Amino acid sequence: MEDIDTVHAGRKILFVDDERNILMALNRLFFEDDYEIFTAVSGEAGLESLKQNDIQLIVSDQRMPGMAGVDFLIKAEEYAPSAAKIILTGYTDLEAAIKAINEGKVQKFITKPWNDDELKLTVKQVFEYLDLQAQNQALQKLLEERNKELVGLNETLQQKVKERTKKIVLQNQELTRLNAKLEENFYKIIRIFLSIIEIRSKEIASHCKRVSAASRFLAAEMELEEREIETIELAAMLHDIGKIGIPEKTLKKTENILTTEEKNLYRQHPLLGEQTLSPIDNLKDAAKIIRHHHENYNGSGYPDRLMADYIPIGSRIIAVVNTYDQLVNKVYMNVNNTRLRAFKALRLQSGIELDPDITIKFILLMKRHKAEVNERRELEIKPFELKSNMILSRDLFTSRGTAVFTKDRRLSPEDIKHIMDSDRIEKLFTAVYVYA
Ligand SMILES: [Fe+2]
Repeated sequence: MEDIDTVHAGRKILFVDDERNILMALNRLFFEDDYEIFTAVSGEAGLESLKQNDIQLIVSDQRMPGMAGVDFLIKAEEYAPSAAKIILTGYTDLEAAIKAINEGKVQKFITKPWNDDELKLTVKQVFEYLDLQAQNQALQKLLEERNKELVGLNETLQQKVKERTKKIVLQNQELTRLNAKLEENFYKIIRIFLSIIEIRSKEIASHCKRVSAASRFLAAEMELEEREIETIELAAMLHDIGKIGIPEKTLKKTENILTTEEKNLYRQHPLLGEQTLSPIDNLKDAAKIIRHHHENYNGSGYPDRLMADYIPIGSRIIAVVNTYDQLVNKVYMNVNNTRLRAFKALRLQSGIELDPDITIKFILLMKRHKAEVNERRELEIKPFELKSNMILSRDLFTSRGTAVFTKDRRLSPEDIKHIMDSDRIEKLFTAVYVYA
């Protein structure tokens, strides 16, 4: 705002008249005011003065020998385009004065002889007008500059936001990549554990895969949180990893015919499993579930003789599924139980070894599942039972949710090999469903 006040600090007026006494009179008139006065006795001398001084107001007589006032003021435009112009004229020269006004070169005319007060007032008003105009221009300029700054700032801001966004996107991509890598590594570890179990005993590995798939199924039915379901699924997958060190002949026996020494060794397996997995952060919860998967509901189990709800829910789920799987698969038993016999046996253990709520939920789930399979005219088969040209009746996923094939695919020998590989490598499905 500084320039606005100082624009007309030194107010310069040029008086042009061929009569020196008039110039003197004008000089006297404005002597006490804060103006810098310049005078010229002809139009030519006036133009010369304009060249040398930054005049803001020109007051010119009209009637002068040589160059007339109007012509002088028109020429003055060239040297002082922003100066205000007043013409002094007699009544007889009104026509010339009007012409000057019409041509836009003169703001005011004052008739001779002038009234001193009127002339002083007019000059004052002209300067006030010039001041206003200058202030206006300065404001306009300031506004334009601020606008430019704003546009600049805005562009800088947009650029910064753009750069920032780009950086965040890149960071996110990197994080996603690292997470994927971590997860991949984690599941590699699980696969390694599973293949260690498999090397020791294919039967235990198959049992673990089946118990894992069914435990996930049951946990989901019980509407547990996805994170907990995953932990239970993992725990079930590795629940018998502690059996790796137990001799084959001990594992072949049912628990009731083990010698005391064998029984003691056998009962170590939940603890050994926990010890194997707990050093891995992401497996700590699963390790705890594994520790307690042989606790009984009535407190008669091992290793900690926990009772009822003191047993982690994942351990109680695995206990039910584990018992069922051992009943229907003759792997560890010398008798081959049918499903219905297995359900009956589960009911007998309900409230003793097994959680009654979970037991009944599991039985209902299995029955409903079987009914659905029948209704849909589907066959539930194992990967190795697949034959060429069978058609999938459901989408096929691994337990990690990876799609293997979609529904309605007619299986080729290569497809079957791929499914068996997926099942062997990643583990997988409760079963494969094909149309009957
Ligand atoms: Fe076990």
